[in-house]
Amino acid sequence: MRRRIVAGNWKMNGTVADLATVAEISAAAKTAACEVVLCLPATLIRPARNLVGMELGGQDCHARAAGAHTGDISAQMLRNAGAGWVILGHSERRRDHGESDAQVAAKVQAAWEAGLTVILCIGETEAQYRAGETLDVLAAQVAGSLPEGATPANTVIAYEPVWAIGTGLTPAPEEVTRTHAFIRARLSDPALSILYGGSVGPANAALLRALPDVDGALVGGASLASKTFLPIINALEIAHA
Ligand code: PGA
Repeated sequence: MRRRIVAGNWKMNGTVADLATVAEISAAAKTAACEVVLCLPATLIRPARNLVGMELGGQDCHARAAGAHTGDISAQMLRNAGAGWVILGHSERRRDHGESDAQVAAKVQAAWEAGLTVILCIGETEAQYRAGETLDVLAAQVAGSLPEGATPANTVIAYEPVWAIGTGLTPAPEEVTRTHAFIRARLSDPALSILYGGSVGPANAALLRALPDVDGALVGGASLASKTFLPIINALEIAHA
């Protein structure tokens, strides 16, 4: 039985005023039939940790534990702030910061060493999708950014088509099914959970959850408010029951 997980990615959103939302999500997470993780901006992890017991994560970490890396944050620092998880290789990091598969792999290793569970993001761009290169891109990303040693305890994969993020567009259900099955076949441990991400909202969560090989969701925009995030958590539970 694979882990079922709904993870929220707040990206560069949220201030202390939003801790009330964290508290609401944490209250719902207590009774959820799936694991619920909230990946917050680094500034909110410690204040959230002091307030709630739910699983918290960061959104990136450096490959080194400490040193002269202005503006960066290490996996140890996330752990020390109260995080148990970290998103790595998100397409916005790959795009905005030019992160390569090799850099992502080094970050994954660092996160594991710090005791963090990694949500490793992979996904094709719109141009790659249109060119029919999706599966090649995903195979290369799995091979290049996931080091040896991934287990269901330390790693979750998130398939996020770049063109589906924040756009309201999603692949057809049969495409998601095919793609997740392809990714699973490439994992050294097929028991790893694979989340779908990209425009997941209350309206499509149950449909996605019902698909084979989809073990949950990585949710951006809709995770920012409990009125949109809690229905996703509920939909994923019901679809599995
Ligand atoms: P979205 O973002 O749900 O706003 O499309 C998902 C993500 O980037 O993780």
